[in-house]
Amino acid sequence: MPSPSGYDLMSRINHWLIAIAIIGMLAVGLFLEFGGLAREEKRWLIDLHKSIGVLVLIYGVWRVLWRVIQGFPKSDDNTMPQWQEIASKITHWALLAGILIMPISGVVASVFNGRSIAVFNWFSIPAQAQIAWLSGIAGYTHRYAGFTLAFIVTIHIAAALKHHFVDQDSVLIRMVQGRID
Ligand code: HEM
Ligand code: HEM
Repeated sequence: MPSPSGYDLMSRINHWLIAIAIIGMLAVGLFLEFGGLAREEKRWLIDLHKSIGVLVLIYGVWRVLWRVIQGFPKSDDNTMPQWQEIASKITHWALLAGILIMPISGVVASVFNGRSIAVFNWFSIPAQAQIAWLSGIAGYTHRYAGFTLAFIVTIHIAAALKHHFVDQDSVLIRMVQGRID
């Protein structure tokens, strides 16, 4: 259980596993978009991106549900300005949304574009009848939610580093070590 002032072990494992996965997926996605590779050259990387993305979706549902059901531990810093409390709440909800929106939009864009998704050689999500507008909206969402998420993650990391190195408070420590009280 997350204590009112800290993150339990499950919350920390969830946070760091998904953090690594999302940062990696964003990096690969942006490389696919801007790396200048030809379609055939990047086929294998797209397949890897899709396979890992589906696994991120499965684990991400659990990770987000765990947080939503448990709620957020309350801030242990009463001196933090109100605007920072609000900004951090908005950011955390946006990150949670991104964990689900990114893979769901990716899957919808692919399968309704008539493409099946082979998740490693393990299982596959079958292609559906083509629905151009649905695939189009999902592809558009994937793209712009992806850019937005990359921006929010950057701010999130900068904020964590500022708490640790500038303010020298316990915000980062409690996500690494759990309760600090
Ligand atoms: C876990 C979350 C995911 C993140 C953070 C992510 C991120 C991104 C980003 C930033 C891009 C580049 C922008 C764009 O071209 O749309 C991209 C491209 C793409 N993603 Fe994802 N993605 C995720 C999951 C998925 C999944 C589950 C699928 C499909 C099953 C998928 C399929 C694709 C495809 C087909 C492209 C376009 C590649 C190209 O043609 O260059 N993504 N992704
Ligand atoms: C190096 C990368 C990262 C660092 C150093 C970091 C650090 C932190 C810290 C210190 C907190 C606790 C904030 C608080 O208690 O108020 C936190 C919370 C959170 N972080 Fe990150 N984070 C990173 C990457 C990510 C990424 C990529 C995501 C998105 C997918 C993410 C999603 C969240 C969420 C949703 C929370 C709220 C609490 C929870 O549900 O876990 N973080 N992060």
